[in-house]
Formats: sequence, C-alpha cells, structure tokens
Amino acid sequence: MKNFMKVAVMSAFLVATGGHAAEKKIIRISTTQTDLVLQVAENGRLYQSYLGEKLRHETDLAELSWDVHAASDGSVVPRGWEVYSGSGNEDFFEPAVAITHSDGNPSTWLYYVSSTQQPVEGGVQTDIVLRDDRYPVEVTLHYVAYAAEDVIKTWSEIRHQEKEPISLSAYASTMLYFNRQAYYLTEFSSDWAKEAQMSSQPLLPGKKILDTKLGSRAAMHMHPFFIVGLDRPAEEQQGEVLMGTLGWTGNFRFTFEVDNVGNLRVIPAINPYASVYTLRPGEVFTTPEFIFTLSRQGAGQGSRNLQAWARNYQLKEGKGDRMTLLNNWENTYFDFDQAKLEALMNEAQDLGVDMFLLDDGWFGNKHPRNNDRAGLGDWEVNREKLPGGIRALTGMAQKAGVRFGIWIEPEMVNPKSELFENHPDWAIHYPNRYTYYYRNQLVLDLSNPDVQDYVYGVVDRLLTENPGIAYFKWDCNSPITNIYSPYLKDEQGRLYIDHVRGVYRVMKRVNAKYPDLPMMLCSGGGARCDYEALKYFTEFWCSDDTDPVERLYIQWGFSHFFPAKAMCAHVTSWNKEASVKFRTDVASMCKLGFDIGLKEMTPDELQYCREAVVNWKRLKPAILEGTQYRLVSPYDTHHMAVNYVDSARQNAVLFAYDIYPRYQEKLMAVKLQGLDPDRMYRVEEINLMPGAESSWKAHGRVYSGDYLMKVGLDVFGFRSMQSRVIELTAQ
Ligand code: GLA
Repeated sequence: MKNFMKVAVMSAFLVATGGHAAEKKIIRISTTQTDLVLQVAENGRLYQSYLGEKLRHETDLAELSWDVHAASDGSVVPRGWEVYSGSGNEDFFEPAVAITHSDGNPSTWLYYVSSTQQPVEGGVQTDIVLRDDRYPVEVTLHYVAYAAEDVIKTWSEIRHQEKEPISLSAYASTMLYFNRQAYYLTEFSSDWAKEAQMSSQPLLPGKKILDTKLGSRAAMHMHPFFIVGLDRPAEEQQGEVLMGTLGWTGNFRFTFEVDNVGNLRVIPAINPYASVYTLRPGEVFTTPEFIFTLSRQGAGQGSRNLQAWARNYQLKEGKGDRMTLLNNWENTYFDFDQAKLEALMNEAQDLGVDMFLLDDGWFGNKHPRNNDRAGLGDWEVNREKLPGGIRALTGMAQKAGVRFGIWIEPEMVNPKSELFENHPDWAIHYPNRYTYYYRNQLVLDLSNPDVQDYVYGVVDRLLTENPGIAYFKWDCNSPITNIYSPYLKDEQGRLYIDHVRGVYRVMKRVNAKYPDLPMMLCSGGGARCDYEALKYFTEFWCSDDTDPVERLYIQWGFSHFFPAKAMCAHVTSWNKEASVKFRTDVASMCKLGFDIGLKEMTPDELQYCREAVVNWKRLKPAILEGTQYRLVSPYDTHHMAVNYVDSARQNAVLFAYDIYPRYQEKLMAVKLQGLDPDRMYRVEEINLMPGAESSWKAHGRVYSGDYLMKVGLDVFGFRSMQSRVIELTAQ
C-alpha cells in the first residue's frame, strides 16, 4: 500500500520564532476502529485535534479544531490540546515535559519540524520531530498503531545539544485529551496478597494521580494500568473506555487533570519524584511505552484488544506454549534436601505436569539460605542440602520425565551474604544513616554497569553450567530502601530511572543469549506486572494469595490487561475450606500450576487433579490462544463466570463459580459470548470428582451458539465455593 511506504514529510519547519508554519500539516494515526489526529496550528506547534472513533472521510480531518484564545499579536492560539506541552508556555495545566535549561530558563516551547510514517510488524509507526525555537532541544514523538488489535503504543525521546547538562523534572510518555461530559477512573490498587483490586470514582476538576515510589517491586501498591470511562462509568460490554498501561518496571505516575473547561488530560509517565534527571548533551532520554486502546464496546472489548496485542507483539513467546508445573515453595518452604526434591519431581510426573520448579532456599554456604535473613546474593548451591549440585537435580528431573525450573532473585542482597561482605558499595543504601530493610534485604545498584555484569553473570553461569535448567522464576521481593547510589555520587536524581534501565539491560542480555527460555516474573506476588518487563518474561506470578476466592478477584482484575497465558495461577492449600476442585477450577482459568503437597490430598482429589491437568491441556487452544469473555463479575454478584473460545469457534470453555451466594437469591442464566451463532455446540460438564456423574441438567445437550449467547446456561447454584467447568464442542 502506498501510505505504507516511508514518506518523509519534511514539511513546514520555519524556524518558528513564535511565528507561523507554512503548512497546516495533519498527521493521522489510525487503527481499524480509532483515529488519533494531530495537526500543526498556525503558530507552528502540534495539537491533538481528535481522538475517538475512526472517521470515515479523510476530507473531514481538516475541519477539526480546538479551543482557542487570542495571543498578544491578535492571532489565535489553540489552548489545552498541545500534544507534548512544555513547561513555561501559555498553557496553565500540567505539562508533558519540564526542562530547566543550562542557563536556568525553565521554559520549553516545541515546534513541529517533520514527521515520517512507515510500516512495522503489525502496524504503522509515526515519528514526529519537535524542536524548541530558542534552545537546541529536540523531542521525537513515536506512535505505533496496531490496526487489527486497535491498540496504539506511544513513547517519546528527549535530547539536546546545549553546552551543559539540562535538568528534566517531567518527562511524560505522551499526553492525551478528551472533551466529554464526564469521566470515571477505574484504578487497580494493590498490596501484598491483595493485587489488582478494582475501584472507580468520578474525575472532577483538578488532578487525580496514581503513582508509586517503590523503585523496584514497583507496582506493589498500585498497578501501572487504568480505565477511564468516557461520559459514564466503565462497563463490561458497552460504553466508551480508554484503557492504558505503562511499560515501566519502576516508579510511574498517571496524572488525570480536568481543566477549567471540563476537558481531561491524561499524562502517563515515569514518576519524577526525587528524580530531577540531569541529561547530558547528546544523551537521549527515552520514555517508557504507553499502550492504550479506546473501546466503544466496554472494558471487555478493550481487554480483548490488549490481550491479542500482547500475544502478537509484546509478551515473550506470546504465541508460544506454556508449561504446567509443580512448585515446592508452599510445600517445603526452605526445608528440603535432595531426596525430598526427588520425591517431588516424581510427584510432578505423577500429577502429569510438565515441570518441577525449585523455589527459594537452594543456595548460600557461608550464609546458608535457610530463611529470608541470609544468603541472598550467594548463588552457589548449598552443599549440605544439595551435595550433587543443580546437575544432580536436572538429572533427577530428566529421570522423572519432567523439566526443571529454578527460583532466583538476582537483583537483591542480604547484608548477611558473601556478596555484601565483598561489595557493600554495590547495594543501594545511605552512606551516613541507619539502614532500614524490607524483608531483611537491600536492592543492588543496577545503575552501576559492574553490578549489571554481575547480575547477568548469575543467570548466565547457572545456565552455562546447568544446561538442564528449563525455566527461571525471577523474583524481586524488596522495594528500594535507603535510596542512595554509591556509584552515581552527585547525580542521585538519576537513580530511580537508571536503576530500572540497568535492570532492562540485564534482561535484554539474558533474552538475547537465551531467547527460548521461559521465565516467570515475580515480585513478592504481582508487584511487577508491566509490559516492558514482559518483553523478557513469558508469564508473571499474579499473587502470593492463592485463596481461590481472593484469586477470583485478583485474576478478574489482571485479566483487564493481560492474556491468560501470561498469568500464573497455582493450586495450593490456602483456604482449605474450599474443595480441591474449586481451587483447581479457579487456577485453570489462567496458566495452571500446583504448589501443594500431593500427600495432603485424598486419592480421589489427586485423581481429580490429574484429570484436570489433562482437561486443561486439551483446552489450551481456547484458554491460552483463544478469546476471553468476562461474563459475570464477582464485584457485582456473588458469582463469577468467564468463557474462552478458540480461534475457529470450534471449542470453548465456560468457568462458573459460586462464591458466597445469598439464601434463595435470584440466579440468572449465564449468556456466553464469542460463539458462532449458527453452529450447534455440545455442552459437557468436565472437571468432576472421580466417579461423580454430572447432576447438571444441561450436561450432554446440544444448543445453537445463538441460544447459548441469547438465552444462556443455568450454571450457578446456592452453595458456597462451588464451581462448574463446561466444555463446548461444535458439532
Ligand atoms: C516471594 C514469592 C513467592 C516465593 C518467595 C520465596 O514471596 O512471591 O512465591 O518465591 O518469594 O522467598
């Protein structure tokens, strides 16, 4: 296609002395459903003239305009819609970028210079160059529009050629505007064992900020994603919503500001808290990617857009398979030896899962890792527990017929470790104050290239010496405490940011050398859940909270932004009030694993789990590769239901859960989605306890997709913590 050719549009850069660009350049960034239209105004600066449902007629684009006011020379100046508004201009609200130049001047006015569009995998990339007319400062705005998935990814680059460094105190990824009657924000707050808790509120004049200041384990208190309901609160199946997420594994800040005329600006950014960044001449400050979709069929469609996009373009091995596993953490904690692990590997094989995952506690000799107070940093096998080393373990796994995975937490150090004894200056901590700890550990200073080499070396050495390692669980259990880098000396404003960039450098190197290695991203549960880290990880651990009731909410929350294949869910012994079936059925709606002693189970329960694993593997084309529909929200009812449909609409699965139903409450049929209305589907209840017959009245019957989507199935009941898994097969 013609517009897929690289078109250099070197238009209209008059060295704009507050003067006027010759051409009213229009830049259209489009998916199949959405248009983002940017336009150069008479003053030579770039404004957002439209963001919304795709426009049918190219000719209409020139009709778009903004709120205006008169400038001192009588000309008309747009107000409130500048695409990347700089500090110290005539806009009175939050800027995207704030720079103090080397001469102390705090203003930045950016003028349009040029733009290009070119095809990239899955979409079209638009790059726009803006430049200050008084200072050699340049900003490049990048957008990739993924047509089919209806997703736009955007980020910016800031650079300069001043003689001395400049200071950046704001550096947004982008800025988006909306002109609507009302706005409602849905946020995903969090804490340990309490991830992805959804709550909503109207956005009224003034600012609402979602941010974190945790450094690493950075999303522990708030996740880097949100939904804005436009005109009305976000709903699942209808209404217009903006859903956005920032790919940044550090401090982030989303600013939502409703201005004096009721327009909303949305500013996703790295949190500038304690991070006035000194940018050297010639250095490029690249912001994180902000990924968003604008859905007119509610959050459900928005999620499907993002889930498809992530699998196609962002997630490591997004289109690849995933392994079921047995983990030993909840079963043994730190108390294991070679014989115990061998027995567990045999249990993994017996259960029918693909892998055994050895968790924390396998390392440290001078300071053995027998609890969380020592050993972190000393990645040598503990010879007392594991005399045969990792080699012996991978050998045992091979004999048992399962793959072998291992836990690491390479960005951290216990002060009680040889690493800290040898390199105290590698840990982030104050030189002149009492040191406070989170989980008895400190964060290694990844702004320091030597530390990056060390962390990369931990992973590389483990893999080189033990080619049998098939998987890593990469943990990060502490926020940055005592924020001071011995390495950065008088440039401490760079620490929060350069630390995260250092983490990425390590992850990139690991990924480059081991591109096929599956890895789980973990952070004391789900405190790392962003799309930059997930370029290097196949999946993430949603929460240490595996109580199935809590998990229904947590998984519901995360599913708004992540596909099931990225979300690890394990069957454990949290909440023994719930049956093993209920616990397994809850974990089965994500990437299934187990972290439970099989000996705790009755023979029937164990057999149940074996069959559930077989069923889950059969249903992978729907659960992992298919399309997800959230049907009944646990936030609105005492129940929950989702269904998945494979790409051919041949097979589907419905998961339905009763949480704590009320006595004789009104039970509604569940209407499925995404089926072919004109095909007939056999519905069968699966995941039944051994020997049990389904008592479900629809079991084995055949219905049209149309019926299933319009009339639905009665799958809910009155008993607490009951579940039903229904497999649908087109006839
Ligand atoms: C974190 C993880 C757990 C487990 C422990 C080990 O809390 O979330 O799954 O790996 O660390 O110390």
